[in-house]
This record gives sequence, structure tokens and C-alpha cells, in this order.
Amino acid sequence: MKNAKLLKANPKFGTVFTDHMSVMSWNADQGWANHRVTQYGPLQLDPAAAVLHYGQEVFEGLKAYKHADGSVWSFRPEANAQRYIRSAYRLALPELPVQDFLGSVAALVRMDIDWIPTQEEASLYLRPFMIATEAFLGVRPAREAEHIVIASPAGPYFSGGVKPVSIWITQEYARAGHGGTGEAKCGGNYAASLLPQTQAAQHGFDQVCFLDGTDNPAIEELGGMNVFFVKANGDVVTPALSGSILHGITRSSILQLIADRGVKVTEERIQLTQLKSMLESGEIAEAFACGTAAVVTPIGRLADTTFDIAINDGEPGKFTMDIREELTDIQNGRRPDRHGWLTRLA
Ligand code: PLP
Ligand code: COI
Repeated sequence: MKNAKLLKANPKFGTVFTDHMSVMSWNADQGWANHRVTQYGPLQLDPAAAVLHYGQEVFEGLKAYKHADGSVWSFRPEANAQRYIRSAYRLALPELPVQDFLGSVAALVRMDIDWIPTQEEASLYLRPFMIATEAFLGVRPAREAEHIVIASPAGPYFSGGVKPVSIWITQEYARAGHGGTGEAKCGGNYAASLLPQTQAAQHGFDQVCFLDGTDNPAIEELGGMNVFFVKANGDVVTPALSGSILHGITRSSILQLIADRGVKVTEERIQLTQLKSMLESGEIAEAFACGTAAVVTPIGRLADTTFDIAINDGEPGKFTMDIREELTDIQNGRRPDRHGWLTRLA
């Protein structure tokens, strides 16, 4: 048994896992069956399992937050469940009903409730994923799959805490393309992001930003986060959902919170050339990335092979930090949940 108390004291993202996991099995004849919570541990997979050869896999990411009164909540988990269905559809995996998704998450959280960290900025990160387990090397949708949920006590995604990150825009590689799997949360998209991410790091940047791969390229998103730009006139803009961008739940919540403030916020195709001239003219005052793991992270520097610009002098912007605080306050039960985004898990 791992020492939950010790490990949750200083959790680094994605490195420590709780004692249990939720598992459900599927086959094409019987559908979903055998819901169970088992000890966390290695999986037994046939070496011919389809996931190992053709990458037939999807996943989700959401968090459990312990509120001051000890109750445990998740943020819009139904939206994760619905996205899991859409991702699975694209990867020719079976649909897991929303209630089963929520049930598997809640069962694990209740079992490992002592693992939920309570310090500032910390939560229990939940990682549901589905893999094709049928042992078969032909290229067709597998007839057997497993849905598994694991959990990891998590502090800030970036080791520096809430500090502006630097972003390298890759012109060389795309993570997704028209008609591809960019809207699905599947492992392959992340595998495709690793080399450009490594190159960004070699250039001295924290993260890579992807373009849409067209002749007049537009900004899409980071490897694991959506992006927003705050203009000097107060308006906010984010790349429109192009068919190859992940429908971020944080993104959609932030769009709502910004609109609630009466601020003009638009979803647009933002061409790289246009972005560059808005940065150079000072039209863009702040930029931030957002996602479940990264929450809201200020962007302090943006560059590609032709430009390198500090945003807001490399400091976190006021609007960015305000939105961050509003969102995390709702998630942690410190402000009213006026949109009904929280679901109680325990
Ligand atoms: N874009 C990508 C590629 C991601 O992996 C994520 C993380 O889940 C996001 C955006 C943000 O999505 P969400 O806010 O639903 O976590
Ligand atoms: C998330 O924010 O949940 C993600 O999946 C992003 C990253 C950890 C891959």
C-alpha cells in the first residue's frame, strides 16, 4: 500500500497513482459488462492486442476537487463523458453510456477519497481511457475493449507553478489535419505532438503551438491546451473549432464566463500573419492557454522562425489571472456555481 498522505503532500503532475482503478470490459456480442474497482496494477494484454499495433485508444482528463466541507466534486464530467463518446466513435471504439462513465469515475473517487489533495491548486486528476484489447492483427475495429479509470493526485501542471509559459509555433509539423482525428482525444494526436514539442524545448520554449496545416495557416491549439488572446481594447478571441481542434471543456466554460462579464468574445480563424501583426502592433495585450490539467496558464512569449515577441512584458495579465481565479473558485466551491457545472462525486 502506498502512503497516500506522504505522496499527496507534494504531487507532481502524473507521476503518482492511487491504490485502485475502475475497469469495465466490452465485447461486440455482450456489450459492456463486469464493472469493477480493482487494485491499481499492470494490465495483462495479449501482445497482439489491437491497441498496441494500430493505436485504437481514446482518453479523457478531469479532476475531483475536495471542498472545504469535505464533499468531493467534479467539473462538468457529463461533458467529458459526451466527448469520450464522440472520440470513441471516431476511433471505431464502442460507446460507453454517460451514466457508466460517471459511475466508473465516482466509484474510484469514493474508494480512493483519501488521496484527494487539499492544498491550494491541487486536486485528484482522473484519467479514463479505452483500449482495443482484441488479439488480432487485421486492420478493422476490435471486437473487445476495456474502459479503465486511473487517478493521480496533482499539483500545478507546469513545474514552475502559475508562471507565464513560452510558446514555439511549429511551421514544420501539424498535430491534426482536415478530416483527421484532431477533435478526438486519442493517444495518436499526442504521439504526433511529441517531436514538435521536443523541438520547441530545444529552441528553449515550454510548449509548442500547432497551425492548421493550410497554405495560409491559422493558429489551432497547443499539444494539450486551447489558447485565448486578450486584445488591448478588452475584446477576447480564441481559434474557432475548425474540425481539428479539441473541444475543450475549459475553453467552453471560459467563453461562457467571459460572455457573462459582458466582454465581447469571438471564435475566429486566426491566421498566423494576422496574429503576428496584432502582436507587433500591441493589439494583443494578453494570451493564455487553458485545459483541465493546465487550468489557465498565462503565455508570456510567442515565437516562430520569423518573430519572437514578449506578451505583457512576460508577466501574467490581469484579465487572465481574473478568469483563472473565477474558474478555480467555482471548481473549488469558493464561488456560486451559477451554471450548474459541478457534479457531486462523494
Ligand atoms: N486541447 C488539447 C489537445 C487537449 O489535450 C486538452 C486537454 O484536455 C485541451 C485542449 C483542453 O481540454 P479540456 O479543457 O477539456 O481539458
Ligand atoms: C488534460 O488537460 O486533461 C489533458 O489531457 C492534457 C494533457 C495532460 C494531455
